[in-house]
Amino acid sequence: MPSRRIPDLFRGAVITIDGPAGSGKSTTARLLAARLGFEYVDTGAMYRAVTLLADRLGTDLDREPDLEAVLKEMEGRFRTAQGDGGMRVYLGGEDVTDQIRTPRIDRLVSAVSAHPAVRAFLVKWQRQRAAAGNVVLEGRDTGTVVCPGGDAKIYLEASLGERARRRIRERGESDDARPLAQEEDNLQRRDRADSGRAHGPLRQAADAIVIDTSTLSIEEQVEAVFRACENRLRAKRGDG
Ligand code: DC
Repeated sequence: MPSRRIPDLFRGAVITIDGPAGSGKSTTARLLAARLGFEYVDTGAMYRAVTLLADRLGTDLDREPDLEAVLKEMEGRFRTAQGDGGMRVYLGGEDVTDQIRTPRIDRLVSAVSAHPAVRAFLVKWQRQRAAAGNVVLEGRDTGTVVCPGGDAKIYLEASLGERARRRIRERGESDDARPLAQEEDNLQRRDRADSGRAHGPLRQAADAIVIDTSTLSIEEQVEAVFRACENRLRAKRGDG
């Protein structure tokens, strides 16, 4: 709900935030967007929505033509809206914001997001959202593929142990040794799949500002990203 007055320096800007799972991207992007009066575009949620629909339709996730049929279904049904807690996702009239975050979708989403047809479909949609500016996009390839001309590109990282602890706490579970080791395995598997794929892999843009969030609180993270964007925009506006 971009009702806040946008600071002059930021007007029209496109900010991208990429990084691995658990690096703090989503929370940071959401809070930064709220602070700036920007729209928040959670690109991971879009890959998750395709995965949920494909799973519901019993699609073979390895077959690109079958996934293309799912994308056709998505076209008329997929919708997002800005909610207080972030971007809400709808399929037809159904709010699937919670259903796209189950462990099952966590497991399946990397396979779906590796398909070029899926990426092309969603990247097009994401670029349309970014075209008007005043937007924070968050994902894996938003600074490299979706908006390579973005005004300020952030790459967040954090240690594997800290990322696993955050994921477990998000789910309200206790971070004892066993679940922690299991979560680290899951994250490593997803990191490998996200970084190793041929299309839109997770990587830093050459001009990205890298911030390690391992020891930062949420407030500190948002502040660090805000300052980094401010510096980048000042330099840019000054140069231009
Ligand atoms: O950020 P997330 O965990 O909600 O993302 C879910 C998955 O979607 C992630 O494992 C990889 C994929 N993804 C992607 O391929 N490209 C993006 N820009 C965002 C997410």
